[in-house]
Amino acid sequence: MRPRRSEVARLCLTSYRKGGTNKAATLKDGREIILTLYRLEDKEALVSMYAGMSPEALKWGMPPYDRARIERWTSDLTNNINLIARSEERVVGHLYMFRTPYERRKGVADLLIYIHQDFQDLGLGTRMMGKAIEIAKERGFHRLGLTVVADNERAINVYEKVGFKREGIARETFYGDDHRYHDEVEMGLLL
Ligand SMILES: CC(C)(COP(=O)(O)OP(=O)(O)OC[C@H]1O[C@@H](n2cnc3c(N)ncnc32)[C@H](O)[C@@H]1OP(=O)(O)O)[C@@H](O)C(=O)NCCC(=O)NCCS
Repeated sequence: MRPRRSEVARLCLTSYRKGGTNKAATLKDGREIILTLYRLEDKEALVSMYAGMSPEALKWGMPPYDRARIERWTSDLTNNINLIARSEERVVGHLYMFRTPYERRKGVADLLIYIHQDFQDLGLGTRMMGKAIEIAKERGFHRLGLTVVADNERAINVYEKVGFKREGIARETFYGDDHRYHDEVEMGLLL
């Protein structure tokens, strides 16, 4: 059973490996996760995470998140950054920051984030966004951007919490499971 909000311990983070990118975190329900940069050997666990996501969790996403897509995301680990959250052997969260190679887009990256439904609303998304911003700053990025369906209030809450600003609305660009078009919000963070 999940503890009551008032009893929930504050998300507690400790350095996992001094000077490294791995971090151990205790989620609001007491479970331990590790935040780390993706490595090739994580691929099957990442594919499994997306394969196990519920239709509700992907309601505001852009499926399919199949093996081919994940291979595309992870094919250039020099320019693009994949951050994962591990719980024991499982991958339970994924954040992808990607750049286009044009000089006119120097330092400008976009990102997407997915947390498995068993680990949502426990502080993990906020923590992964914070870590991504830290890595982007270390790597000299200038800006992070993203697009989110306007109805995805939890995601927008998280993005604003870590400093993203609403920059505009793209009207009726997302065709939902409800067979209706939804607006999307463009958001950005200058680093
Ligand atoms: C959106 C997502 C990344 C957020 O990560 P998360 O780990 O669930 O979020 P966190 O627990 O860090 O934070 C959620 C915050 O939103 C709040 N929240 C929860 N439901 C909410 C809602 N319906 N409306 C507004 N705020 C809400 C929580 O109270 C919490 O805020 P608090 O820390 O101030 O209490 C994650 O839920 C997810 O992957 N969802 C499905 C896929 C998705 O939508 N990805 C984004 C596509 S752009």
